[in-house]
Amino acid sequence: MTDDIVIIEAKPEHLSQVETWTARNDAVKTLLKKPKDPSAETPLGWHWAALSDGEVVSVASIELNKEHVGYLNCIVKPDHARQGIGSRIIEYVLAQPQVKNLVHLHSVIDPSNTAARKILNQNGFSRVGYDADGNIEFARHTHRKDS
Ligand SMILES: CC(C)(COP(=O)(O)OP(=O)(O)OC[C@H]1O[C@@H](n2cnc3c(N)ncnc32)[C@H](O)[C@@H]1OP(=O)(O)O)[C@@H](O)C(=O)NCCC(=O)NCCS
Repeated sequence: MTDDIVIIEAKPEHLSQVETWTARNDAVKTLLKKPKDPSAETPLGWHWAALSDGEVVSVASIELNKEHVGYLNCIVKPDHARQGIGSRIIEYVLAQPQVKNLVHLHSVIDPSNTAARKILNQNGFSRVGYDADGNIEFARHTHRKDS
């Protein structure tokens, strides 16, 4: 159950807990990735952490590219998977005002990742293609009310 989960803006100490989830090392590297261009500033975006009794059980992020497209990413701690935490944190992130303001949201997932596909479909994302590494790319585009 997710009743005891609290979602907050992630601080560096929350993100460093995630680095210990070795079973999800590739996903962790993507989520905490450093800018490719070392002269670039830290990528613009936000991180959130889901806590259960003070322990980080999930982290989600939105990273913005230069065109202001938001890239959604999320990891659930392996021993807390399949309890609804991934759905819960992604719904929370998508409801945040700064995220609702984004017209274009994308998410790139491994083709074997049924849970992520379900969560993205349930939240209005559709499959738009594959990236160069064979990962599935999902997108959601919204129309601004004031334009
Ligand atoms: C993808 C991920 C975040 C899902 O988190 P989770 O907390 O386990 O997911 P939930 O418990 O909220 O499950 C969401 C849905 O997927 C289903 N599901 C979960 N794991 C599944 C699995 N292994 N196989 C099939 N369905 C699965 C659930 O039943 C649920 O379906 P429902 O809404 O119809 O009930 C988690 O697996 C993860 O951290 N993966 C590695 C990182 C990653 O690939 N992130 C994707 C980028 S967004």
